[in-house]
Order: sequence, then structure tokens, then C-alpha cells
Amino acid sequence: MTENATIKIGDKTYKYPILEGTRGPKVLDIRTFYKDTGMFTYDPGFTSTASCSSAITFINGEKGELRYRGYPIEELATKYKYLEVCYLLINDNLPSKEEFLEFDNELRHRAFVDEGLRKLFDSFPRNAHPMAMLSSAVSALSTFYFDHLNTTNEKSLREMAARIIAKIPTLSSFAYRRGLGIPIIYPDIDRYFTENFLYMMRAYPGGKMHKQPGIRASKDISDIEIKALDTIFTLHADHEQNASTTTVRTVASTGAHPYAAISAGIDALWGRAHGGANESVVAQLELINDIKNVDKYIKKAKDPDDPFRLMGFGHRVYKNFDPRARILKNLQDQLKNELGLDSKLLEIAHKIEEIALNDEYFKKRKLYPNIDFYSGVILTALGIPKNMFTAIFVIGRTVGWISQWMEFKKDKKAKIARPRQLYIGP
Ligand code: SDX
Repeated sequence: MTENATIKIGDKTYKYPILEGTRGPKVLDIRTFYKDTGMFTYDPGFTSTASCSSAITFINGEKGELRYRGYPIEELATKYKYLEVCYLLINDNLPSKEEFLEFDNELRHRAFVDEGLRKLFDSFPRNAHPMAMLSSAVSALSTFYFDHLNTTNEKSLREMAARIIAKIPTLSSFAYRRGLGIPIIYPDIDRYFTENFLYMMRAYPGGKMHKQPGIRASKDISDIEIKALDTIFTLHADHEQNASTTTVRTVASTGAHPYAAISAGIDALWGRAHGGANESVVAQLELINDIKNVDKYIKKAKDPDDPFRLMGFGHRVYKNFDPRARILKNLQDQLKNELGLDSKLLEIAHKIEEIALNDEYFKKRKLYPNIDFYSGVILTALGIPKNMFTAIFVIGRTVGWISQWMEFKKDKKAKIARPRQLYIGP
């Protein structure tokens, strides 16, 4: 029996069905509201709006719960490799051993890019931001794979998904090395996805790497480093209808090329209110520079007339600890000594957290640390520079964008995104 809501406007009464999903809040189905009433609903920023139905990721912001295809993030981040999580997001089930080996092998071979695309990076200025280079390169990918425009069958959809997931780390490492003015390193098909990315970032021209003392004594890229980055990729893999995923779905709704949609997602993620926050967090910790200065910056963050915000704090959905932040905080504690995390940045971060979590301003607004508050210190210890942090977010999130793109494409009732407005002009 469908539950209904009744809306009274003037002397008229309207009934709208209330739909219930498998988890989370119910929704009020107002698709005929404008036709019935001649009025629009009004929700800038979509604070109370569900833009679609989806079976991929579930978040409970009050409880700080995150699930991919029903699996809790705590389980996926500790028990599975990132590529197994990619398989889960795309295929709606975790891979068998054989399925994983086949998927891993396919991505290793698809990690290479056309030489024409490699040359694109030579045209960027040395100080170009990696996100600008990455977004351009992904859009340019659609010039090499334009046949996807008529993607209709399952096989070509999966091929497109594997192709872009495999190529993003390669393109990201090209952007990094272009920034340093050093020759790029081609992928090594003998290395697993995450190890291969670190290899393409670190190897000397010709592909040489040296074992270093400490954690890299036995292998030129240590298992600890691979596991830390693999976990970070998993934590970033998908996150329901966030701003960049909404961008990808909007571009998908016009029928544009899937790589154009991902390129648009990269541009949306770049903003410091979204994925760009991870770079800003470390820049902010460096700006604060000493725990003596923390109080001054907390005060600035609370001042309504001061645009300064505490980067890495607050979230539209999480009104409790971001579960990904909790996992990263534990990872920081585990890796502190092994990876040699920057103790000064850690000390400042912990001081901010300690003060903010007990301060009325943050408590009243339910502002907790989010994923971006902790990721940067670990990435720094992996030798990844700040301006590459959001590119790391892109590598992790591409599978989420593609899964959501595929889900949209399979929705026979999907319509072009075309919201209306409250007109306040002349
Ligand atoms: C990501 O959506 C996703 O799922 C995103 C993401 C993903 O995986 O895709 O989780 C990744 O983007 C994480 C968020 C990273 N961004 C930051 O860390 C930037 C700092 N945070 C803020 O800009 C803000 O908290 C947002 C953008 C994250 C959320 O903004 P909302 O939900 O629109 O909240 P708001 O701006 O309306 O703030 C509510 C109140 C305001 O105060 P009042 O007007 O009520 O007095 O809280 C204040 C804000 O001024 N506030 C902050 C604050 N965040 C919100 N005050 C100081 N510092 C902050 N960080």
C-alpha cells in the first residue's frame, strides 16, 4: 500500500506518493508537481533533493555509515584490494579469484596510452596544475575512442570502464612528470595497479629504481606503501550523488561521450569545497605552522565575516565522523613510524581536531573532520606533492563516476537534467 503526502495550496489539495528504498530516507515523488500546481519546488544546492535512484553507494550521515553495493567501507578498506572494489562497483559483485586475475590483467594491458596523447603533455607549461592537465587529457581520450558514442551493449560498456580506470593513473603520472620537466615512465605490466602508479611516479628515466634503506630495503616500492595508497583509493572510490558525480550524471543525461563526462567530473572535483580540499588541508597546516597558532585560525574559521574555513572539516551529508576519516586516522597511527609521517603537521592536525571537536561553533553545526583532513599527511609521506593530491582523488573516484554513468545509461526512464528557477530579474 503506497503511503501518500497531501499538500494543500490555497483551496486545492494535492496528493503525492512517498517512495521507500531499501535503506535510508523515503522520498516524496513530486515529478508531476509543476504540471499539477504550476509551481516549482525550490532547493538550491539540493539540500533536500534526491536526483535519482541508485543501487551503488549508501551513506547514513547521522550514523557515519558508508557502503558500496551493501558492503561496509570498513570491511572493503581492510580486507580487499582496490581493484576488487572496482570490480564490485562496476559488476555489483566481488570477483572470484579467476575474475580478479582476468580484470587485473586487462587493466595492466589497458594502462598504456596512444603516443599522440603522451605528446599532448609536452604542450602544457611546466607549472600547469595537474588537474588541468588531467581533465584535458581525459577529454582528449574521447578523440581516440569516439566509437563509444554509440555504446549500447554490456561488453562495450565494460570495455570503456576498464579502459578509463586503467589509463587515469598513467595520465596522472604523466602530468606529475611534465610538471618536473622529466621524461615520463611507461606502465610496467608486471606491477599491480597501485604499485604501477607509484612506479610511474618514482622511476628514473629508463625505468630504473633503487632499493632504499628501511621499508624499501627488500622491494623498490614497499608493500606498506602499496597498501596505504590502495586503501586511500578504496576510500575515495564512490560517494553517492556528490557534486562531481552529479556533474557526471548531468553530462551523461545529454548523451555526451563518457570520457567527456569524466573530464567534467574531474573539473568539478577540483574545487576546494570538494576534492580540492585535500590539497588545501596540507597547505593550511603548513600556513598554521605551529600549534601555538591553532587558536588564531580556529577563531578565523568561526568568524562569519572571515571567509577562512577550516579545510577538511564539515560535510553536507556526514553530521558525525566521516567513516573514511576514521579509517585514515587509524592508518596514520599505524604508519606514523613506518612511513615517517611529518610529526609537526600531524601535531597541528591533532590540535585542530581536539579544539574543534570540543568547540560549540563546530559542535552546533555538526562539523567533523572529513576524508580530506587526514589523507594529505599520508600522501606527503608517500612522496606525493600537494598539487597531485586531488589527482589521487581522481584515480580513486573514476570507478565511482563510471559506475554511476553506467547505471544512468541503463535507466530506461532517465531524462536529460533540466532544473528550473525562481526568476528574480526585470
Ligand atoms: C568532499 O559530497 C561529498 O560526498 C563530497 C566528498 C566525496 O567523497 O565526494 O565527501 C568529498 O568534498 C569532502 C568535503 C571537502 N571540503 C572541505 O573540507 C571544505 C571545507 N568544508 C566546507 O566548505 C563545507 O563544510 C562543505 C562544502 C563540505 C559542506 O558545505 P554545506 O553542507 O553546504 O554546509 P554550509 O556551507 O551550509 O555550512 C553550514 C554552516 C555554515 O555556518 P552558518 O552559516 O550556519 O553560521 O557550517 C559552517 C558554515 O559557515 N561551516 C564551516 C565549515 N564548513 C561549514 N565553518 C568553518 N569551517 C568549515 N570547514
